[in-house]
Amino acid sequence: MTQPKKEEKVYPPLEKIPVHVGIIMDGNGRWAQARGLPRLAGHRAGTENLRRILRAAVEFGVRILTIYAFSTENWERPRDEVEGLLDIMERMIDRELPELHREGVQIRHVGRLERVPERLATKIRQALDLTRDNQRLILNVAFNYGGRAEIVDAVRRIIQDGVPPEAVDEVLISRYLYTAGLPDPDLIIRTSGEMRVSNFLIWQGAYAEYYVTPVYWPDFDKDEFYKALAEYARRERRFGRIPTHGESQRG
Ligand code: IPE
Ligand code: IPE
Ligand code: MG
Repeated sequence: MTQPKKEEKVYPPLEKIPVHVGIIMDGNGRWAQARGLPRLAGHRAGTENLRRILRAAVEFGVRILTIYAFSTENWERPRDEVEGLLDIMERMIDRELPELHREGVQIRHVGRLERVPERLATKIRQALDLTRDNQRLILNVAFNYGGRAEIVDAVRRIIQDGVPPEAVDEVLISRYLYTAGLPDPDLIIRTSGEMRVSNFLIWQGAYAEYYVTPVYWPDFDKDEFYKALAEYARRERRFGRIPTHGESQRG
């Protein structure tokens, strides 16, 4: 993530920057199809793009990024594509981990490790261990993630822990989610134009601002990211209350 030495475009400072941004990195397949390439070429291009967005996130002052890389439903895709995606994930860790660590990125995993092949699961655990004390950017990788599965896992653990019913409230449930200890996302971006949540952060995103762009993920560059942040800065978050003017807002 070292800055390239070329003319740097200046991005005007924004009135507010989301602390936590979620990204549904969608449209890799269509990006490839539009170029007559196999879908996996789109996934590789999407992975490349992640580097620039990480760099941009640090530069714009975002503290936490949660990226949707593979859903619990994505196992239903053809075997070749699933294997290709697992392979890309593994190679991404091999190639990028040292630099991410040097740059102060703390990698976390949200999702289930069961069903993930053992070699990859081990690499994921090692990446989490290596980077656990880094503070510059928290990168939450939603891999084999589903919002419903997350709630099911939370409920199971709450029961296993023998929590009495009257102790169950929203704060407690949040503490049992994969994102325990992190603030909820302020902004959720979805690329490729689909107007749906696809099981991403369904609990945590209850009051997130949504931003959907038709741009496919491999083409979602720093300018596009800035546009999303600028749109967020213009939004008025109300959290169910009545608009307040002149009063400071959360996030
Ligand atoms: C998103 O791109 C990446 C994953 C779901 C792993 P897609 O593969 O969903 O691309 P489209 O939506 O088919 O274009
Ligand atoms: C959501 O995209 C999952 C990821 C981006 C990893 P999908 O392409 O799987 O979602 P649907 O099928 O369009 O809802
Ligand atoms: Mg898709």
